[in-house]
Amino acid sequence: MTAPAPGHPWWRDAVVYQVYVRSFADGLPADGEGGEGGDGAAGDGIGDLPGITSRLPYLRDLGVDALWITPFYTSPQKDHGYDVADYTDVDPLFGSLADVDRLLETAHGLGLRVIVDLVPNHTSDQHAWFREALAAGPGSPARARYVFRPGRGKDGAEPPNNWHSIFGGPAWTRLPDGTWYLHLFDSSQPDLDWRNPEVGDMFEDVLRFWLDRGVDGFRVDVAHGLYKEATLRDQKRPEKPAKAAGSMVERVLNDEPMWDQPEVHDVYRRWRRVLDSYPGDRMAVAEAWTQTAASMARFIRPDELHQAFNFGWLGTPWSAKAFAQVINDSIAAVAAASSAPTWVLSNHDVERHPTRYGGGPVGLARARAATLTMLALPGSAYLYQGEELGLEQVDVPPEARQDPSWLRQPGATGQPGRDGCRVPLPWSGDRPPYGFGGPAGAQPWIPQPDDWAALSVEAELADPDSTLAFYRRALALRRAVFAGADETTHAVADDDLLVVLRGDVAVVLNASTEPAPLPAGEILISSGPVADGQLPPDTAAWIR
Ligand code: GLC
Repeated sequence: MTAPAPGHPWWRDAVVYQVYVRSFADGLPADGEGGEGGDGAAGDGIGDLPGITSRLPYLRDLGVDALWITPFYTSPQKDHGYDVADYTDVDPLFGSLADVDRLLETAHGLGLRVIVDLVPNHTSDQHAWFREALAAGPGSPARARYVFRPGRGKDGAEPPNNWHSIFGGPAWTRLPDGTWYLHLFDSSQPDLDWRNPEVGDMFEDVLRFWLDRGVDGFRVDVAHGLYKEATLRDQKRPEKPAKAAGSMVERVLNDEPMWDQPEVHDVYRRWRRVLDSYPGDRMAVAEAWTQTAASMARFIRPDELHQAFNFGWLGTPWSAKAFAQVINDSIAAVAAASSAPTWVLSNHDVERHPTRYGGGPVGLARARAATLTMLALPGSAYLYQGEELGLEQVDVPPEARQDPSWLRQPGATGQPGRDGCRVPLPWSGDRPPYGFGGPAGAQPWIPQPDDWAALSVEAELADPDSTLAFYRRALALRRAVFAGADETTHAVADDDLLVVLRGDVAVVLNASTEPAPLPAGEILISSGPVADGQLPPDTAAWIR
């Protein structure tokens, strides 16, 4: 790893690749080709830590700086790892602590940093604390680590308040003894009570456990959720929600006594002190679905977390004006906090961006253009596995769906759930499982489409026009042109043409339906073919 310049920590302009552990790569069988991995879970159709380790050279060659790995801790997998039963051990599905050590050592040897996921808002209902709480009964200290309350109405048969679970239905579940417990997600994910000091102490130990093992940082799950308004009052909701309830991206801006409470910032001040006490620029990035850019910026004040995902960029429709506005606003918002912006177009919770932009060849062209624009912006970019292959959202058949946001109320929200962006990656070959588990791999846990042969890593490596080849070129050029470059950036939009100026480079994105004349200069890279000084629709280019 190259030593970061003083005052310019590595994460400030890193490209971070999100590995969704179940769907990245299944470790090779013990007696399989190459002999990598080889734990008992390998070849079972579920991605794992040895699988990731075996594919780290792929990530180095792609040109990213770091990977973020989604939860691999002991878990009943009700929310695919975001329901943690033991924060300091590895689920046997994914390997062992020794596999984590091997992964970290290999990654660091290749110059890659590793960020792990931390899930502090809730535990699994199989966590020792929750089991203890159930056994100990109402009023016990064990129950005081979670949010247990009596119900309302006759015999307490109504939930304590009107809050909804993000996955649909009430945010409360009633126990046989009559009390209710709060879960902002699935009923198998009880929310912790962060007003209880034991909770903060436990998480400080968890942070130290992974920092001692050598992780470079944390992605903080539901970072805006830890504290709820102390009164647990009802949420004021308009009679008719403007958009689908339960959708994470389109969540209506409204009264939110369950999110983004001021007390949460003391947690991150404490964590910052812990992170700063370790050598080597350890960092944390918040997943905080805040309602405004100003409130996002509060999570990244100099004594709090280092970064927060910029979901404003992800949620922006295909429009030059909208892009210009979100670029300028995001940069201004984080400048006030003296951090750098982050940019993300896809992750394991949202529809993949080629599909969001319309799907098919147009969707892919737009996705490549948006990615190329993002990679020129100051700050750090988060990529989601498979976007470098141009994968689209998959229409997973209902009987194969596994996401709790679907399983809790199949069909009720009109949304298919999040499985469609979590389909295991195609590595090689011309039919499922496309090398996902090596030569002897089983069919993966979510079925892959039959028409992915041309999208496999193997196929795209052989094609200089592939999306993978494009990502590799763009990431190499980003390093050459923008590493350590001045961060001052300004975006303007006119006639659906976006122009972003950074140093001596102009990024031009044509969101209109007509070709646009390119400004004079050297074309460093374009997201699609460019000829005769014209930038075709749905295309972006870097010009010097
Ligand atoms: C975050 C994760 C999501 C998970 C939820 C509950 O939003 O990204 O996948 O379901 O938290 O932990």
